[in-house]
Amino acid sequence: MNQPVVIAIIGCGRIAHLGHGKGLLKMAQEGLIRVKYACDIIPGKAADYQKEFPECEQVIEDYHIAVNDPEVQAIYVLTPNYSHYQITMDALKAGKDVFCEKPVTVSYALSEAMKKEADKQHRLLQIGVCNRYKGTVEEIQKYIAAGKLGDVYNVVCNFRCFRQIPGIGGPFTDKAQSGGGVLIDWGVHFFDLILYCLGGAKIETVSADSYQGVGKNMKDYHYLSMWAEDTKDIEHGVNDVEDYVTGYIRTNKASITFMGAWANNIDDNNMYIDFIGTKGGIRLDYYGGFTYWDGNTLKGEKWDHPIPDMYECEDRAFIQSIFDRKKNKGNVDEVLETMKLLEAIYHSGDLHQELSFRSEE
Ligand SMILES: NC(=O)c1ccc[n+]([C@@H]2O[C@H](COP(=O)([O-])OP(=O)(O)OC[C@H]3O[C@@H](n4cnc5c(N)ncnc54)[C@H](O)[C@@H]3O)[C@@H](O)[C@H]2O)c1
Repeated sequence: MNQPVVIAIIGCGRIAHLGHGKGLLKMAQEGLIRVKYACDIIPGKAADYQKEFPECEQVIEDYHIAVNDPEVQAIYVLTPNYSHYQITMDALKAGKDVFCEKPVTVSYALSEAMKKEADKQHRLLQIGVCNRYKGTVEEIQKYIAAGKLGDVYNVVCNFRCFRQIPGIGGPFTDKAQSGGGVLIDWGVHFFDLILYCLGGAKIETVSADSYQGVGKNMKDYHYLSMWAEDTKDIEHGVNDVEDYVTGYIRTNKASITFMGAWANNIDDNNMYIDFIGTKGGIRLDYYGGFTYWDGNTLKGEKWDHPIPDMYECEDRAFIQSIFDRKKNKGNVDEVLETMKLLEAIYHSGDLHQELSFRSEE
């Protein structure tokens, strides 16, 4: 029996509570991990976390205490996007394995630097691309790999909502803290799972545009409800990120047509991905199962099975990687192409032109 992996959780916000809390708690009860520290820079937040998850042994406000503790083997970085880089680099340099939430960080160059540091230190760096561990996504990957769709030539991707700008004026809409809007927040999940399902597709060309649409003037933004409303700051805050993106991408496997909106003036929430192949097609409902259509029988088959908690699955995969000293499918190596794509989408929109990556091959 392996000794429990000693971990520290840095950042006790929403994803720590709602995403990773339950799985980590179970693993602590099973003796797979010990949670030595819960850390949050805001006084009281780590203590609140400890109340909900009493397995956390100590509460701290300075993450350096955990990073410099020789007993700690792995660090969970569950803080805002801009801070992923510094905390991860400090942890890697101190010889820790790291689980870092998505996106890797706010730029491709810094993401690449994180990967290089992990390699240099011979440490694992896993990114929170939780969809890769979702039952539906794993199944679609198998359908495609087994040839059930034939040649997949186009993917249609929609992550478009009526009114979902999170905490307007707060950290989500401040580019310096978030690195971007709907693309880096939601798009990262959609594009990562598309590239993954296509079997590690590499981007060839990107033509895209991003807009500040209905959220442009915060005082004129009308909404019915708001996610993370406690963080909004309409009076004094910043909103300098896109709330709408669209574009067209060619990869070495299939092209991707996409639209994404935190908010737009069409009252219909569209969160799906269509994989269009020569023999069959699949529509993935982002929050549910998927339907597969066979191009010969013309029949649709719904895949609607219970889906295990994807956060728990990725947490278990991370701890198993530590035991085995082996990278898994959420390793940073696998996610860099996604970061390259996000940056290219922003860049193409800024320049109003198509970007080509073909010469890099
Ligand atoms: N995988 C997913 O489905 C998913 C979902 C939501 C958020 N996320 C990601 O998780 C990360 C956190 O998002 P969130 O919604 O939990 O944000 P949040 O603001 O609710 O929580 C972040 C916490 O980190 C703390 N923090 C900031 N800097 C710190 C530091 N230097 N040391 C210690 N604590 C620090 C903050 O005080 C806050 O409590 C983001 O990168 C986000 O993109 C992932």
